[in-house]
Amino acid sequence: MALLQLEGLHAYYGAAYVLQGVSLECAEGEAVALLGRNGQGKTTTIKSIVSMVVPRQGRITFAGTNITGWPSHAIARQGIALVPEGRRIFPALSVHDHLRVPVGGALVDREERIQFVLKVFPELKEKLKTGAAGLSGGQQQMLVIARALMTRPTLLLLDEPMEGLSPKAVRRVIEALRMIQAMGVTLLFASTSCERAFFVAGRAYVIEKGRIVYHAGREELLGNLEVQRHYLGVRG
Ligand SMILES: Nc1ncnc2c1ncn2[C@@H]1O[C@H](COP(=O)(O)OP(=O)(O)OP(=O)(O)O)[C@@H](O)[C@H]1O
Ligand SMILES: [Mg+2]
Repeated sequence: MALLQLEGLHAYYGAAYVLQGVSLECAEGEAVALLGRNGQGKTTTIKSIVSMVVPRQGRITFAGTNITGWPSHAIARQGIALVPEGRRIFPALSVHDHLRVPVGGALVDREERIQFVLKVFPELKEKLKTGAAGLSGGQQQMLVIARALMTRPTLLLLDEPMEGLSPKAVRRVIEALRMIQAMGVTLLFASTSCERAFFVAGRAYVIEKGRIVYHAGREELLGNLEVQRHYLGVRG
């Protein structure tokens, strides 16, 4: 059974018809990429899972529960966390403050959880008291991922987590995402780069103009230059 299932999502921004019947699924423990060029509906698809965009038609099922249109906080409580695009940090807050998010349970659990996420992101450990504005782009991305992990999600959604980072920081994000998957967390992330995405994902969906036009496993898609050229803008 799929952990996450999107069935025939249709979504609009005002009169703009943006998602035109998106269906996809993630099995438990899988890492899945949502690939597509700019403006094809990746962010809208991810936002629809957490009701930041409410689809006009279609169904979202998570762990057997129909969560379509639920309030975002209730969806978070079910075990879904989102890392939005653009590394949204609070510049004036320290790293430690970012991690002090309400996680349910006792405060002692929260401190334990902070120690746990610092094992995944050791580079944040020596920066705990640093203001987030003083972190490098890569460290800021680590911080927002660490923050999302505080709630012990079973599904982690990430919107272009490797975008705009140095090659070294991209490698670090890849390493962290693999580690998070190895912990048993299911991953669904948007990316414009097939090559980068497959360092993490085992399978991918390709979206164009709000429709899933292709889906395949890593080897098949990496071997299909025609699809890459046509839908992902790969030259050659
Ligand atoms: N708030 C909005 N209001 C109106 N139109 C929007 C809004 N957000 C996105 N769109 C439009 O919806 C379409 C899909 O956008 P979306 O952000 O989902 O694409 P994307 O694949 O994430 O692209 P990108 O690579 O730019 O992140 C685009 O045509 C975009 O212009
Ligand atoms: Mg986007």
